[in-house]
Amino acid sequence: MIIIAIDGPAAAGKGTLSRRIAEEYGFHHLDTGLTYRATAKALLDAGLPLDDEAVAETMAREVELAGLDRSVLSAHAIGEAASKIAVMPAVRRALVEAQRGFSLKEPGTVLDGRDIGTVVCPDATVKLYVTASPEVRAKRRYDEIIAVGGRADYAAIFEDVKQRDERDMGRADSPLKPAEDAHLLDTSEMGIEAAFQAAKTLIDAAL
Ligand code: C5P
Repeated sequence: MIIIAIDGPAAAGKGTLSRRIAEEYGFHHLDTGLTYRATAKALLDAGLPLDDEAVAETMAREVELAGLDRSVLSAHAIGEAASKIAVMPAVRRALVEAQRGFSLKEPGTVLDGRDIGTVVCPDATVKLYVTASPEVRAKRRYDEIIAVGGRADYAAIFEDVKQRDERDMGRADSPLKPAEDAHLLDTSEMGIEAAFQAAKTLIDAAL
């Protein structure tokens, strides 16, 4: 069983990199951020409070990993709500259990998120920590919105990226940080294609 763990902050390029790796090796892929987003959306849709841990845990236990789709979970409000419920230990326990179950699929899996190498799959075959400067990540988000004809404010996006980093890195339960045995990939300068080639070299060496 092969597990590739990919962690890092928002908009560092984890998603694109994970999908490329999964495709290259024929592995199953789980974007664990979607499990937090789906829980948050279920609470928002039901008009339930975001600060009741027992209620949020019940919703987390009902998330179906098979049906997760970023296009219906991408709203800014869902991302904000997701990062709020992600500080709750009972929510994390429920989702981590489901994520661990997924990680055991054959012939191999790629999981990306914030705590894969540190908490979800500490024995992963290869651990990557993908990062980029907050400026580069904010610019990527900005370009993505402009590319689809949307309106974006760089300064607001930059503030948002920094706030999300603070919340993800500062929480007591499973804060975002590189595992001790993770390989660091800084995509600020190299771009996603070069990051993929670097990741491939590391994975090939471990298989
Ligand atoms: O990756 P994405 O931005 O979609 O994740 C939404 C939120 O879910 C993150 O801001 C983070 O707080 C939380 N999350 C987490 N652990 C993960 C994946 C996401 O706490 N493994």
